[in-house]
Amino acid sequence: MRVVVAPDYEALTLVAAKFIAEAIAEKPGLVLALPTGNTPLGVYRRLVMMNRHGEVSFSRVTTFNLDEYIGLGTQHPLSFRVYMKEHFFGLVDIDPARVHLPDGLALDPEAEGRRYEAEIAKAGGLDLAVLGIGLNGHIGFNEPGSSFDSRTRPVTLSRETMIGLQAGRPPEGTSNGQGSARVFPMSGLTVGIATIMEAKRLLLLASGEVKAAAVTRALDGPISKDFPASVLQRHANVTVLVDREAAIDLD
Ligand code: PGA
Repeated sequence: MRVVVAPDYEALTLVAAKFIAEAIAEKPGLVLALPTGNTPLGVYRRLVMMNRHGEVSFSRVTTFNLDEYIGLGTQHPLSFRVYMKEHFFGLVDIDPARVHLPDGLALDPEAEGRRYEAEIAKAGGLDLAVLGIGLNGHIGFNEPGSSFDSRTRPVTLSRETMIGLQAGRPPEGTSNGQGSARVFPMSGLTVGIATIMEAKRLLLLASGEVKAAAVTRALDGPISKDFPASVLQRHANVTVLVDREAAIDLD
């Protein structure tokens, strides 16, 4: 496991964007798993700028988002599909046919999970999975208790995740929460832990003092499904990229 400590969030976004751009330079047809949330926003902003300046092209890249809410339409402002369109997909040269998110409106979410797994397999598996981390150690929507053998499936969001979503500031630039009631669904579809662990490379991002305890527990704590991110200790090629505030508890 490689741990990179950036001086601040802006530096973190630069290192992360360069990391992703280099992976694409090495393999233009990269298969990339992508997170949502506040942490990756600056990374997407950088990638958009780099794309505009001709420093990276997504034209042959295939993406799979890590998760999506169940029950939100594709136009719903809280949906991850809208987040991704507003912050990334709508602003770069990616081929919409190569963009994948779980369908939160699927009538049979279990079957949707299997379909999504099959799509990932058809694409040749994930080359690089970019991950955030929840305060409770979740990766994607793999909440505490998720099996390390889990695959893409419907899940109930934990109380802690729900509280965080309700309390969290809406991602900048989105319409979330501006005047409208921010009522989040209580369930989602998430790529499984086994699926994430099969990615050839992982890049975990964490920013801010609020994440310090979670980062320490993920890196140095016991490997346990009680804290899903601890499973990353078992992966052969992980880069953990944190800013100084998120690293304060690390040795
Ligand atoms: P955040 O979310 O980037 O908004 O902190 C991370 C996560 O909960 O996975």
